[in-house]
Formats: sequence, structure tokens, C-alpha cells
Amino acid sequence: MKAAVVSSFDRPPRYEDFPDPAPAGDHELVVDVLAAGLHPRVRFQAGGFHYTSTDELPLVPGIDGVGRGSDGLLRYFVLPDTTYGAMAERTVIDTRRSIVLAEHSDPVALAAAMNPAMSSWVALRQRVDFQAGQRVLVLGATGNAGQMAVQVAKLLGAGGIVAAGRDAARLAKLRQLGATQTVSLDGALDRVAAGLGHAASDVDVVIDYLWGEPTAAAMAAIVTARADRGKPLTWIEIGSVAGPTAQIPSAALRAARLMIVGSGQGSIGAGEYLAELPALAEAISAGGLDVHARTMPLAAVEQAWADTDATQRIVLIPRP
Ligand SMILES: NC(=O)c1ccc[n+]([C@@H]2O[C@H](COP(=O)([O-])OP(=O)(O)OC[C@H]3O[C@@H](n4cnc5c(N)ncnc54)[C@H](OP(=O)(O)O)[C@@H]3O)[C@@H](O)[C@H]2O)c1
Repeated sequence: MKAAVVSSFDRPPRYEDFPDPAPAGDHELVVDVLAAGLHPRVRFQAGGFHYTSTDELPLVPGIDGVGRGSDGLLRYFVLPDTTYGAMAERTVIDTRRSIVLAEHSDPVALAAAMNPAMSSWVALRQRVDFQAGQRVLVLGATGNAGQMAVQVAKLLGAGGIVAAGRDAARLAKLRQLGATQTVSLDGALDRVAAGLGHAASDVDVVIDYLWGEPTAAAMAAIVTARADRGKPLTWIEIGSVAGPTAQIPSAALRAARLMIVGSGQGSIGAGEYLAELPALAEAISAGGLDVHARTMPLAAVEQAWADTDATQRIVLIPRP
């Protein structure tokens, strides 16, 4: 079969021949892949620097997708750490890590949106006791996952949503998607942090895709500006586009009722993740989330890798 093949972590994947996958256990099933999203996590995987990387080569990247199984059913699937990823004509899935989709489902929308939307959906439903009416800050709201987080927070009943991001046009658009306030992250760190302290001093939950220096500065500013320091604030770390480490001031954890938690593979059990998939797929299929997807043939995988425009999620199609 044809697949996107990573033979060296220094080069983008190439469209090449790769051995066909074969099911090994009772729950495994070969699927014809219809659509696979090129998420940041997949770029990390293909570069050998995701925290779950096993360094095994060659590998086919791709962590999730939509495919039709040899049983005839349309499925959204999430793959384990495997060298047989989703960016291939066929892959092998564990049916327990998949959900059967309605026939009218749009494979491209689901392949584009499930991963970025899942990060905030699962975080709000599994990592915090989120109640309708609570206020949310989305740090890094202009990326794919951030834009989804604003909409997911709205869908789950947030009482106010502060969206913070660098891109002015996308930030403005987030007002139509549910943001009740926006803060620009463009500018000097201390000025940006002061703006966040002002706009988000009373939030209950922070959904953080940034980490790094912006997070350290924002955390200090928000904690300091809180009118009620005893009011719980849960900071959910999800992404690290602004840096893998952050110098968190120790005082932030003493001066307010701040709790820092993470949400990602490992901090949430596979079962808990899977339990959330049907409702999220339904929300996407019902048009509850604004999806920005751009399809490219799998054969153009090298071009896709060179294309880092984050405004639309690239979805690779093995048989356009
Ligand atoms: N843990 C999980 O379950 C999970 C799931 C999905 C994603 N993630 C992680 O979440 C992060 C975002 O993913 P994504 O899908 O939204 O990526 P994306 O679509 O590529 O968006 C990345 C965004 O980050 C912004 N950005 C980059 N550097 C920044 C900085 N220094 N300050 C402020 N903004 C900055 C960019 O803003 P501009 O537009 O201003 O350039 C861009 O909009 C990644 O780290 C990803 O690995 C985690």
C-alpha cells in the first residue's frame, strides 16, 4: 500500500510503499483510511520528539482518523503508539479505541476537528469539576485547539469566556464563536500579563495552550489581581506552543487557591477519553463547532509538511 513514511526524524515523511498492516488480536480491524488530520502532535511524532515517541523507524505518522473497516462500518479511530499510523491507505485499529459513525458523517470535518476539540472537551469534562456558569480563560485561543476551546466552553455552558491570542483577526472572530472578552497576546510580556490580570482576574478555569514565559507571567498577574484569593482557580495545561518549561512563581501557589493540572495522553485514562468521543463527534456532526479544514492528497504529504499555515487544519486523503 501507499503511505506517508518517516525513515529519518530529520526529514518530512515521503509518499512511499509500505507493508500492509495485519490485525493481530481479537479487537483489531483493518480500515481503509478516508481522512487523517495533520495535527501538531503528528508533526512531533514524525520528528521523533513527542513525549510518547518510541524512536522506532520507519514509521507511518498519524494518530487518528476516519476510515471504513473490513466490517463495512464507518469509524473514527484513535491509534496507540504504533509505527502503523493513520497516514496510509490502510491502517489497523483497535475497535475499542474507535466509535462507529453515522453514515452521513463528514470524514474530513471529524478528522480535522476531533483532535483539537478533544483537548478542551476532555479537559473540561475530566480534569475539572466544570459547572455551567463558570468563567473560562483560553490562553492561546487563536490556534485550532484554542478556537475549539472557546466553542467547547460555550457548548458546555461557560458563563463567560476570555479568549487570549496573538492574531488580531482571528481573535476578533472568536467573539462570534462565543468569546465574551478578548485579550491580545501581541506585545511586551508585562503589558500582556497586566491585560490578562485585568480581564481574567475572576475566572474559574484556565485552558492553557501556551506554557513558557507567557504562562508564568499570566499566572502571576491573574493570581495577584484576584479579588477573592480563596475562590478556586484550576489551571489546565494542555499545550506548549510558547515553551516546554515555565518558571512558575512559588508564591502563585500559596497566595491563591490555585491548582495546576495537565490534560493529555497519560493524565487521562484511555477509557475516560473514549467515553467522551461519541458526544464530541455528535457535536461536530451537528455543526456545533466551526471547523476549518483543508484537504490535500496523501501523495502530497511532503508539501503538507512544509505548509505551516495554522489557520486551517490540513487533512490528508489517501484516495481523493
Ligand atoms: N494535550 C492534549 O490533549 C492536546 C490536544 C491537542 C493539542 N494539544 C497541544 O496544544 C497546542 C496547540 O495545538 P493546535 O492544534 O491549536 O496548534 P495550531 O493550530 O498549530 O495553533 C498553534 C497556535 O499557537 C500560537 N502560538 C505559537 N507560539 C505562540 C506564542 N509564543 N504566544 C502565543 N501564541 C503562540 C499560534 O498563534 P499565532 O496565530 O499568533 O501565530 C497558533 O495560533 C500544541 O502544543 C498541541 O500539541 C494538546
